[in-house]
Amino acid sequence: AEVTWITADGERITAEVGDGVSLMEAAVANGVPGIVGECGGGMMCATCHVYVESDHRTGAPGPIEADLLDFADAPRRDGSRLSCQISARPELDGITVEVPPGW
Ligand code: FES
Repeated sequence: AEVTWITADGERITAEVGDGVSLMEAAVANGVPGIVGECGGGMMCATCHVYVESDHRTGAPGPIEADLLDFADAPRRDGSRLSCQISARPELDGITVEVPPGW
């Protein structure tokens, strides 16, 4: 799926992400600033926080993810997700996620 990140500086980075690869891993691989993925996708760090733009094709966060989002550095918003918990899949093609400021 084609994924676009909008960095805190307003830069757009678009990459093709293979099915099953998390948007955190893809962000790190593509050098998206502000996505650290410190815990390697273990839902422990919240350094992979993103705001999913406009629609909610990724669904809602699960309960553990939701708890962790409350502790993320950047404020939690409606589209907040931990990007390590979003796996690329064909339905997400064209998705845009915004990287919160402040890391
Ligand atoms: Fe740590 Fe997502 S990479 S919570």
